[in-house]
Amino acid sequence: MIIDWYPGHMKKARAQITEILPKIDLVIEVLDARLPISSANPLLERLRNNKPCIKVLNKADLADSSVTKAWISKLEQQQAVKALAIDAKDRRDAGLIPKLCRKMLTARVKAGKPLRILIVGIPNVGKSTLINTMAGKKIARVGDKPAITTCPQQIDLRNGILLSDTPGILWPILDSVPGACRLAASGAIGDDAYDSTAVGLVSAEYLSERYPGLLLKRYKLDRLPDTPLLLLEEIGRQRGCLVSGGEVDLHRAAEVLLRELRGGKIGPISLERPNETNSAFERATETQ
Ligand code: G4P
Repeated sequence: MIIDWYPGHMKKARAQITEILPKIDLVIEVLDARLPISSANPLLERLRNNKPCIKVLNKADLADSSVTKAWISKLEQQQAVKALAIDAKDRRDAGLIPKLCRKMLTARVKAGKPLRILIVGIPNVGKSTLINTMAGKKIARVGDKPAITTCPQQIDLRNGILLSDTPGILWPILDSVPGACRLAASGAIGDDAYDSTAVGLVSAEYLSERYPGLLLKRYKLDRLPDTPLLLLEEIGRQRGCLVSGGEVDLHRAAEVLLRELRGGKIGPISLERPNETNSAFERATETQ
């Protein structure tokens, strides 16, 4: 099913993060609220070494709020970590971050020193959106491609915060099947890097188990089809994804499901829960 992997990239990322961290007071790690573990790169956690950190659960508007709450409690068990669920497009939500930075760095605030903040996260997690909302204007970013050598870009938010942005540093970890499959389902990785039908089938199974009511409502069903395949076929028929002879084009049906899932059309959905060990995404490993 999966996917793509960037071997030499981690070495470069390690070197860049190691170089910049001593000049940083606090790290903002932007995660996807729907999949906070799979959208993290564990390298950062290893290198951060108890430096204060805000784990921003972004795209919380697309996630299941009760699961997001559970994630906040879980993440805040980590040393020197505060977690915050936000929609990066919302000015009020983004405004909570500078407030929390000041609260976590009172000594530097009292000393009248600028707060040196590093913002990191995998591509597509919403970093640019968040930076733009916090800055109140569009900031050009380059480099979210592994082949491009980047250097940190410093942005003065003009509120005592100097934000170091590091485009292109962190990439998602794709060597675990459940994690990669969740990332694919969320839209975090390019369409050509995975098999939409396979990811659509696993997602259909996950949604049938975790969010049956939302599926019934979205696809106006009296009962859920018995298998993920039958569910995809039903969605395909409803959305006119047919090939000659009237058969369902499963690939297109899977793309419809994934598009509606990512766009929040089915409802607020989390693709990962704390301590999850037996969801459709975990079971997908066994069928690889
Ligand atoms: P990046 O810098 O980390 O790579 O991510 P970027 O900000 O470009 O955001 C990736 C996509 O996620 C964008 O959608 C953006 O609008 C969307 N996004 C970011 N934050 C949030 C959020 O909190 N909630 C929701 N619902 N969406 C969010 P796009 O379709 O790629 O671009 P656009 O058409 O919206 O500009």
